[in-house]
Amino acid sequence: MTPKDRAVHHFRAHFGKSPALVARAPGRVNLIGEHTDYNEGFVLPVAVDRAAWVAASPRPDPVAHIVAADMGKEAIFSLNPVPPREGNWADYPRGVAWALGGRGFVLSGMDAVLASDVPIGAGLSSSAAVEVAFAWTWRTLSGLSLERTELALLCQRAENEYVGVRCGVMDQMASVWGREGHAILIDCRTLEVEHVPVPPGIAIVVADTLVRRELAASEYNRRRRECEEAVRILAQHLPGIRALRDVTPEDLERFGRYLPPLLLKRARHVVHSNARVLTVVRAFRAGDLETVGAAMRQSHISLRDDYEVSSPELDTLAEAAWEVPGCYGARLTGAGFGGCIVALADKDAVDELERHLKRAYEARFGRTPTVLVCQPSGGAQAEAV
Ligand code: GLA
Repeated sequence: MTPKDRAVHHFRAHFGKSPALVARAPGRVNLIGEHTDYNEGFVLPVAVDRAAWVAASPRPDPVAHIVAADMGKEAIFSLNPVPPREGNWADYPRGVAWALGGRGFVLSGMDAVLASDVPIGAGLSSSAAVEVAFAWTWRTLSGLSLERTELALLCQRAENEYVGVRCGVMDQMASVWGREGHAILIDCRTLEVEHVPVPPGIAIVVADTLVRRELAASEYNRRRRECEEAVRILAQHLPGIRALRDVTPEDLERFGRYLPPLLLKRARHVVHSNARVLTVVRAFRAGDLETVGAAMRQSHISLRDDYEVSSPELDTLAEAAWEVPGCYGARLTGAGFGGCIVALADKDAVDELERHLKRAYEARFGRTPTVLVCQPSGGAQAEAV
């Protein structure tokens, strides 16, 4: 059953009626520009054909009754006021209600069922998809006048301040701004969005190490602090910089020597990554897939050696992908430490790529990675049932 059908089916079974609407919000895979969003830089994600779905109907009292179909769990909470976080899955819809309420919106009570086929914890933004799906549901049920970027920012706020994870804005922006056949260039400072066609004939292949690292959140926050510290030191020599976004590769050549070696590595990753995102966008437009692939490979090496967020499992998959003829490039995608790699390959080369990735990974780790071919898909939407 598709997650949409699952959501509708469970809604009928649980609430004894049909839902008024279903909302869909996709996960994402980031093609290039990792750990640049919170440095006010550039990212190039694709919304994928894996999504969180919410089937919902309004109810008269200010209460949300939410069933998580995939987990067999449910939560009932007040919308006025929204109770504090509990440290479980329902913090995502609760946090979204909290953020929307904090913005002054009055939310309709609702009965809802959530179902998703975004793999959890794999670096494909399963949580952003859930946040955006609930925000979109409330936007539709309560008739909120809320455009896409502001909705994404409120979901990010829910995750930062209610759930307590200091993520950047890429995942929520990708989920609202997805477009079929396109990648999404996001300027994380101005929040401008530009859709960039993914050349036809190219497949976006995602391979999951199946490794889920508990460390990821604390290491992620540590990287953010390191970047902030690098900006503080560089600002003594480059007055007026606000974020690593403002630092060019030439600036770093001149003033990098004032940074301790670790911070220089972190800054080098971010500064060059921003440049690489723009290189890839130009190369996509020119149909120059060799340049796209080379930038992806440099990105992986930089994430491995300078930003130090890779792992032996991610390196094995990326290196295996680099060996396959017809695969242009591959790199770890998402925050790192575990999760997935993304590869771009000729459609004809996908079977061999999948075989080779599985062979290489099984030989070293004795487990079979999950391989998905993702289609660039549309962003958040709702439809009447
Ligand atoms: C996670 C965060 C994003 C981004 C990436 C790294 O997915 O949620 O905001 O920082 O890591 O690029």
